[in-house]
Amino acid sequence: MRRKLAAGNWKMNGIKADLAQIEAIASRPPARSEVLICPPATLLIQAAEIAQGRIEIGGQNCHAQLSGAHTGDISASMLRDCGANHVILGHSERRMEHRETDAKISVKAETAHAAGLVTVMCLGETAEDHEMGATLRIVERHLTHSLPDSATAANTVVAYEPIWAIGSGLTPTIAQISEVHDFMREKLVERFGTEGEGMRLLYGGSVKPSNAGEIFAISNVDGALVGGASLKASDFGAIIDALDAAWLDA
Ligand code: PGA
Repeated sequence: MRRKLAAGNWKMNGIKADLAQIEAIASRPPARSEVLICPPATLLIQAAEIAQGRIEIGGQNCHAQLSGAHTGDISASMLRDCGANHVILGHSERRMEHRETDAKISVKAETAHAAGLVTVMCLGETAEDHEMGATLRIVERHLTHSLPDSATAANTVVAYEPIWAIGSGLTPTIAQISEVHDFMREKLVERFGTEGEGMRLLYGGSVKPSNAGEIFAISNVDGALVGGASLKASDFGAIIDALDAAWLDA
């Protein structure tokens, strides 16, 4: 059975004073689910010290190479050295603001896997693609080209994040999320066999305490990647509780 995962993506938010939110989440780990917080790189060392293995800590990006002349970048091995064991790759904000392509994301993932990190691979369609009915085509393209052959159930989590749902308060219908997640499962099993069966599939985009329960009830949704609502322990805690409760209904 796939262990459910609640992942928080703090993006470019959080200063030292916000580490208290990590302590608040780590001090009440859920009975069944796994929890991951990805704070900005500046907080990683302290976040990992606070977490003490009670929850997982991850980075939000890494370079395709392990070291070298890349001003301003951070490598997968540096993330490991900080105490992180996960990294988010291919987030739509990186794809758009830093022109990251599927090919580049795939190389980053290979490097991250070799460094021992679990990669949270983000993909999803724009509002325009969604309106044109191109969602599954875009999702398939991202899945095929951004996941490297090194992907396994243990080192890879896939997050479906429709770009139009991120930070907008909008979410696809339950039927739409279900269709995309079933499709991703089918494609992953086709390519990776039993490993594809074991990869966790997260939904991301405007997940909040009020909609988490119905999203977590979808069969191929193994958790969520949460942006805004992960910044406050009270909200993220409520989402974690909803995820943990979903185990009992499964
Ligand atoms: P949101 O962001 O929960 O604020 O919509 C999700 C994400 O971008 O990972």
